[in-house]
Amino acid sequence: MTETAKSRVVIIGQGYVGLPVSMRAVEVGYDVVGFDVDKRKIDGLKNGESHIDDITGPDVAEALATGRFLPTASQADLHGYDIAVITVPTPLRDGAPDMSYIEAGARLCGAHLRTGATVILESTTYPGTTDGFVQPILEEVSGLTAGRDFKLGFSPERIDPGNEVWNFQRTPKVVSGIDAASLETVQAFYDDLVDVTVATKGTREAELTKLLENTFRHVNIALVNEIAINARGLGIDFWDVIDAAKSKPFGFMPFYPGPGVGGHCLPIDPSYLSWQFERELGTVSRFVKIANQINDGMPAEVVRRVMLGLNERSKPMNGSRVLVIGIAYKKNSNDARETPATGIIEGLLKLGADVRVHDSHVDGFFLDDQMTRVDLTAEEAKSADAVVIVTDHDDTDFDLLTSNAPYIFDARHRLDGANIEHL
Ligand SMILES: NC(=O)c1ccc[n+]([C@@H]2O[C@H](COP(=O)([O-])OP(=O)(O)OC[C@H]3O[C@@H](n4cnc5c(N)ncnc54)[C@H](O)[C@@H]3O)[C@@H](O)[C@H]2O)c1
Repeated sequence: MTETAKSRVVIIGQGYVGLPVSMRAVEVGYDVVGFDVDKRKIDGLKNGESHIDDITGPDVAEALATGRFLPTASQADLHGYDIAVITVPTPLRDGAPDMSYIEAGARLCGAHLRTGATVILESTTYPGTTDGFVQPILEEVSGLTAGRDFKLGFSPERIDPGNEVWNFQRTPKVVSGIDAASLETVQAFYDDLVDVTVATKGTREAELTKLLENTFRHVNIALVNEIAINARGLGIDFWDVIDAAKSKPFGFMPFYPGPGVGGHCLPIDPSYLSWQFERELGTVSRFVKIANQINDGMPAEVVRRVMLGLNERSKPMNGSRVLVIGIAYKKNSNDARETPATGIIEGLLKLGADVRVHDSHVDGFFLDDQMTRVDLTAEEAKSADAVVIVTDHDDTDFDLLTSNAPYIFDARHRLDGANIEHL
């Protein structure tokens, strides 16, 4: 642990990114203020409850018991920080970056900024945000000068909810600063939290690193989705192809077709990059455009395939009972933001299906009034004209499904059998 480990750290935003950072910072000895404008989340944390899957209630209770974790919705608690970390949302509004959350976070940090303190942005965003957007706000609000009076850096989050191998601590963290002194402090902080840190030349390189990683994933998922649809037309088992291709020890990395991308990253981050290309350079990111088009079309492809599957069984979609398994955008997560389940359920409803849904992780969903939430029982599986696996949470009783459901469309390729179809 470095000298800074006794420092007071405020984490702006206690969501999927901010809460794990808070927990780890408490664990290694920092005094942590976890600030969020969502009072329900803060009340839960104060009661030792967690709102995200990767952090348990007992984890929060343990952090509270150290006396070094203060969950709060009160701005007054932000005073006197040594390090502030901003982990607020970066959504799109009308296809363009919505910077209002980062702006609000920067204003809060600026209002409590002291000489010698450090501000770190973690939210995923376009290159140039830290030095071109956050820095001027901090300077304007605080009256201080970056580099001379305070330090500033960017460190993208790589958290992968549900990934038990590559957790927060084990995943190398990219760090950067607007100058050498900022980088040194930012790196020292994260060296306390994670096993390996990787420094970039500047904040723009770190910002683009995150967008490269997510755009790479987005584009490759689109590639396999497109090939999967066409391979089916050619009568080729594309999963067999991927299995064979991944035996190549170099130059190939497996990606798998699926019902579409979701969450706070893939459907959004690449558009931050293409927006910046267009705004600054007048160029178009063809890759991002095509990947968006293909991945956005996958929910409709799933609906089309289920309709064809029912047709083969002499059933119209209209009036058929369709049991959707999983709403979350990825397995073992309760995160339903931008989930492809939305497009699939809306598509099924539009064609007149009686949609029944089972998800063991996601509680409330905005389409709840148009579909029926059910427990997964043999009776439910037997009575479904089609079962659609959208999210394959590990705690799903797949044996129950395969032994009772007459027809399963498995968009995750989790199951095999006579009555099971894949993308
Ligand atoms: N979820 C992921 O897997 C993931 C992974 C890597 C990077 N990211 C990036 O991290 C950032 C945060 O994502 P997230 O998934 O944690 O979002 P989230 O919605 O789970 O959490 C953000 C939190 O910030 C709070 N907030 C909003 N405005 C605030 C303000 N002015 N002051 C204090 N709190 C405020 C919200 O109430 C919310 O609790 C985004 O830029 C995202 O792209 C997310």
